[in-house]
Amino acid sequence: MKKTGFWRLIVVVLIVCLPLSLFAGCGSGGAGGPGGEGDAAGPAPVPDGLQSEDAEPGSGPSSNDDAPAGGPSGNGDAPAGDDNGSALAGEDNAGKTLIVYFSHTGNTERVAKQIHEAVGGDMFQIMTDNVYPEDYDACVEQAKQEKKDGFRPVLKGGVENMDQYDVVFIGYPIWISTMPMALFTFLETYDMSGKTVIPFCTYGGSRFGDSIKDIKKLCPDSDILDGLAIKRDGGDSLAADVEKWLRKIGLVEAN
Ligand SMILES: Cc1cc2nc3c(=O)[nH]c(=O)nc-3n(C[C@H](O)[C@H](O)[C@H](O)COP(=O)(O)O)c2cc1C
Repeated sequence: MKKTGFWRLIVVVLIVCLPLSLFAGCGSGGAGGPGGEGDAAGPAPVPDGLQSEDAEPGSGPSSNDDAPAGGPSGNGDAPAGDDNGSALAGEDNAGKTLIVYFSHTGNTERVAKQIHEAVGGDMFQIMTDNVYPEDYDACVEQAKQEKKDGFRPVLKGGVENMDQYDVVFIGYPIWISTMPMALFTFLETYDMSGKTVIPFCTYGGSRFGDSIKDIKKLCPDSDILDGLAIKRDGGDSLAADVEKWLRKIGLVEAN
């Protein structure tokens, strides 16, 4: 009986302990599992931006701390994108072309606006401190005198950062067979070397007169393209004439 009792005890112990030991084994494995998942989940967001900085152990929590830091730095790049945006806006086919013009009665301004419509860019109107009379004959007298004296009218305002422009249109009415003296002041004020200079004028009867010769003297190191001379305000064909000319000199692509 004693032996039988002993074996019963062994059987009972086995019945009770075997399942317990099995559970215990799974338990330890289970504890590792979630930990693994946790690790997997923890580092997962880390590798992208932070792996090189936080590859060292302990990166679990610190990587979480750093993750947001990575975020802002990503966002921190966004303003750079904005900067690019404004840089692009600054270029906006824009940044490289300038249309400069002087106009007393509006004809040259009309041509300048037509050119601007076709090629874009920035515009600058040359204005002088001295006033020119509205009366035609009085204006002619003043213009004649200024030319005779080699007068250089003082200009109002100026072009900001001329360096940014590669292509500069120069527009003016013909006065006493050449440009108004304000154009001489302008072209002596700015260094046009290395730029493409494109003259355009409006006139009553003498087309360019001496103006192209004078521009060449004032801009000896510029590439001066064939200009456009428009009679007075250009009439109904202005848009077509401007377009045709811009195509011819390669400023607008031929269709
Ligand atoms: C002071 C003055 C001088 C002018 N001299 C000439 C000239 O020598 N040759 C010419 O063909 N037209 C001459 N004109 C006519 C202008 O060139 C023409 O009307 C021009 O289209 C005016 O341009 P705006 O309206 O942009 O000022 C002169 C006009 C003025 C007011």
